[in-house]
Amino acid sequence: MKIHSALSHHLAWVLLALLTVTAYAKDEPAPVSAKLANVRILATGGTIAGTGATSTTTVGYTAAKVGVEQLIEAVPALKQVANVTGEQVFQIASENMTDEYWLKLAKRVNTLLAQDDVDGIVITHGTDTLEETAYFLNLVVKSHKPVVLVGAMRPSTAMSADGPFNIYNSVVLAASPDSANKGVLVCLNDQINAARDVTKTNTTSLDTFRAPELGFLGYMQSNKPHFYRLPARKHTVDTEFDVSKLEALPKVDIVYGYANVTRTPVDALVAAGAKGIIHAGVGDGSIHNAVKPALIEARQKGVIVVRGSRVGNGIVARNGEANDDELDFVVSDTLNPQKARILLMLALTKTNQTSEIQRMFYTY
Ligand code: DGL
Repeated sequence: MKIHSALSHHLAWVLLALLTVTAYAKDEPAPVSAKLANVRILATGGTIAGTGATSTTTVGYTAAKVGVEQLIEAVPALKQVANVTGEQVFQIASENMTDEYWLKLAKRVNTLLAQDDVDGIVITHGTDTLEETAYFLNLVVKSHKPVVLVGAMRPSTAMSADGPFNIYNSVVLAASPDSANKGVLVCLNDQINAARDVTKTNTTSLDTFRAPELGFLGYMQSNKPHFYRLPARKHTVDTEFDVSKLEALPKVDIVYGYANVTRTPVDALVAAGAKGIIHAGVGDGSIHNAVKPALIEARQKGVIVVRGSRVGNGIVARNGEANDDELDFVVSDTLNPQKARILLMLALTKTNQTSEIQRMFYTY
């Protein structure tokens, strides 16, 4: 009988010890490992932080509800791949992105990457304007260290939500030395895209982010990145743009070309104070005869006009569908209208010389 009670007593202590260790492990952050990279997750909102009414709700959910700590807790495997810490920079559905949010995020990223104890950054973001934020950061981040933007096409409450594994892959990518010096990266659906060329190509599908003709930089597989090409244009430390002392960005807007279009949008934007206008033209950047006079008048008032295209792929040829030399217009090269707008905004922080701005469109 004595042996039995001693054994029970011993087992009780072992059980208590196990429960204590478990409780400690559950509530305490993982111990920092000297051999793992230090990755900071900056959360900004979006579907990846969204919640829906049921596990099958993948449209009609609410974006930007779940905080960064919950996003990290949902991916316990992160502890094996990096020392991860989180920060909620803001919490929005990304269709509501503003220049102020961009400047706040860019300044925070540059401050963190200047620290020796930060090896890489992951930014969780809504997918609607993810490509724009990625390209903006691609032009203003002043570090070789990896910066990875990640989103999700299903809310965190959905069955087979894509957010957790996208976050896991993005942290692995940001922790990898191979990711350095490649510019800002976008990582969803096991695919790695370059900030300059990536665009959202489908309203709801998981593989929405593509660079339709220029292709992925690589893939995530077996817990590491596999790169197959490199960005060809300047980015991050090699750009001439610096937002560290900026509190606002120049007003640049976009007008869309289509059959029977009128000059009204151009006139309205000029009257509202636009410093630059991106014309998302049909075909190779063609401008309707009803709109061209408005763009010429805008240029004469000092507004920079960039001839772009709604098509989405290919080069808008200078002096092709319009005499850009004579009209003193700029052409967008292969940038889509929303990215051409970002480059023109930053260009206008440096110059209003069209020859210099055209050089920038051929450089970045
Ligand atoms: N409201 C959209 C956004 O925050 C949801 C799309 C998404 O994040 O996938 O961009």
